[in-house]
Amino acid sequence: MSDIGPAGRAQVLVCITCRAATDPTGEPGDDAPRAGLALAEATAAAASTSDISVQRIRCLGNCSRGLSAAIRCDNAWTYVFGGLEPTRDGPSLIIGARLLALAPDADTPGMRQQFVCHWRFAELAKPGKTSWNLEPWRPLVDNATMIWSRCNPGGTEDPF
Ligand code: FES
Repeated sequence: MSDIGPAGRAQVLVCITCRAATDPTGEPGDDAPRAGLALAEATAAAASTSDISVQRIRCLGNCSRGLSAAIRCDNAWTYVFGGLEPTRDGPSLIIGARLLALAPDADTPGMRQQFVCHWRFAELAKPGKTSWNLEPWRPLVDNATMIWSRCNPGGTEDPF
C-alpha cells in the first residue's frame, strides 16, 4: 500500500511512537504500546465509515508537543497537530481531513484555528451543536483573543 493516496483524497498520518506523560519512559528496545497507538486506533475507528485514509507513522518530528498527527491532501498544505488526546481527537482528525478534502483551498491557519476552537471549546458551551461556520475572512489571532471572541475573531456574525 502506498503512503500517498490518490489525488484529492485526504489522509491522516498518526504518530504511533509518541508518548503520553503517563507512558513509561522506556529503555532502548522497549516496545511497549504507547499512547500514540491509541490515537491511531481511535482515528482509524472514526474513519471506518469514511474514505479517509489513516496511516501509522513512526515520528512526525513533533515529539515535544505530545501525541501528534498530520492531515494532508494533494494540492493543500499539510497540517501537523500536537497535544492530541485519543478519545477527543481521533474523531476531530477525521472531521478535519474531510473538511480539507472538500475545500483544499480553504486551508489557511485562520481556518484551522477556527476549527480547533469550535471543536475544543464551542462543544463545551453548546454541546451537540450541529454546525459551525468557518470563515476565511476571519483574522488569525492569539489564543486569548480567540477564546474571548468565542471562536469568531474579527466580527460577531453567527457566534456559536
Ligand atoms: S515520536 Fe511522535 S512526533 Fe516524534
